[in-house]
Amino acid sequence: MSKKVVLLPGDGIGAEVVREAEKIIAHLSDHYGIGIETETHLVGGASLDAHDIPVKDEVVEACKSADAVLLGAVGGPKWDDYPSDKRPEKALLRLRKDLGLFNNLRPVTVFSSLKDASPLRPEVVDGVDLLVVRELTGGLYFGEPKEITEVNGEETGVDTMRYSVTEIERITRAAFDAARKRRGKVTSVDKANILATSQLWRKTVTRIAAEYPDVELEHMLVDNCAMQLIRNPSGFDVILTENMFGDILSDEAAMLTGSIGMLPSASLGDGTGMYEPVHGSAPDIAGKDIANPLATLASVALMFRFSLGHEKAASDIEEAISAVLNAGYNCKDMSRHARHVLSTSEMGDKILSVIIEKQ
Ligand code: NAI
Ligand code: MG
Repeated sequence: MSKKVVLLPGDGIGAEVVREAEKIIAHLSDHYGIGIETETHLVGGASLDAHDIPVKDEVVEACKSADAVLLGAVGGPKWDDYPSDKRPEKALLRLRKDLGLFNNLRPVTVFSSLKDASPLRPEVVDGVDLLVVRELTGGLYFGEPKEITEVNGEETGVDTMRYSVTEIERITRAAFDAARKRRGKVTSVDKANILATSQLWRKTVTRIAAEYPDVELEHMLVDNCAMQLIRNPSGFDVILTENMFGDILSDEAAMLTGSIGMLPSASLGDGTGMYEPVHGSAPDIAGKDIANPLATLASVALMFRFSLGHEKAASDIEEAISAVLNAGYNCKDMSRHARHVLSTSEMGDKILSVIIEKQ
């Protein structure tokens, strides 16, 4: 049985970190006989330079017919002044939409050896291991009308927050399924004291929760959640929330670790899943072989787990990352917390050698 993985390195450090991912994918594919075929395509600024379009139709089609997509990052100063339909991030929006990626998963793990890297006190963040499940295709970012119009002779902006029961049900199931494989707790975050969408959200989540008697459910208002993430972050297991709340809370949660170069993400739908580091293309460090590839390698672990059906390969990568960090290795961005500072390619090689050692 063979699997197809599309690699979209994109711009800046995207190509550097995806190159390290390729080494790991190739090894695990051989070792476990998974038969992964990879193909690489241009996306973002790289595609704009070559084809004058953020992503070509044939690339979108290649992604649709693949088992998984691994994306580096897109964007950079070179394309900042391009018109809105010719901006690198349009490629991401198109892929999310065309692949129907409604379920965005962002795990946030504070490694014990790196608890000093957080802006919060080490004892507050020690042991943090949470997962933000963000609804990605509904809510305020997509609801119509969405426009700037004239009301009573004055310019007025309008966005519409909209959610159907079906949209809420499917992301709720995704969160409860994830919680079952973790510590069995879901915190559903809304603003049910004010918003109609949140009242429907709360009612629907409560109904679906009855199908999961083994998972504990708590409801939390979003403003309180923003506080609790700072006050007692290890109290969370799975945070389930709508699109905009999830956008904001996942960035807040990411900062608990103090290490943007180490955070992975997965976006899932009914078909192909897409995996990418949380960070961007980091033009300030591109081409220097100092970018931290761990976010991308952790994203590859998620890819093996959720799209390639290979939990063992996923845990091989995650255990290797833990072991390498605990042994005091890290990249330049985390050099204050490392005894040995590795380049991008050295880190990829180190993770690979630890995976091989343990197999
Ligand atoms: P960024 O995440 O690219 O960089 C922020 C800071 O973190 C920089 O100082 C960078 O050097 C550092 N950094 C990021 N990733 C790192 C890594 N793996 N290792 C070591 N250091 C790392 O965010 P920024 O600077 O706001 O955006 C730069 C470009 O990336 C922009 O064009 C932006 O639009 C794009 N971007 C793309 C994203 C994507 O493709 N999903 C997400 C966020 C930004
Ligand atoms: Mg964001």
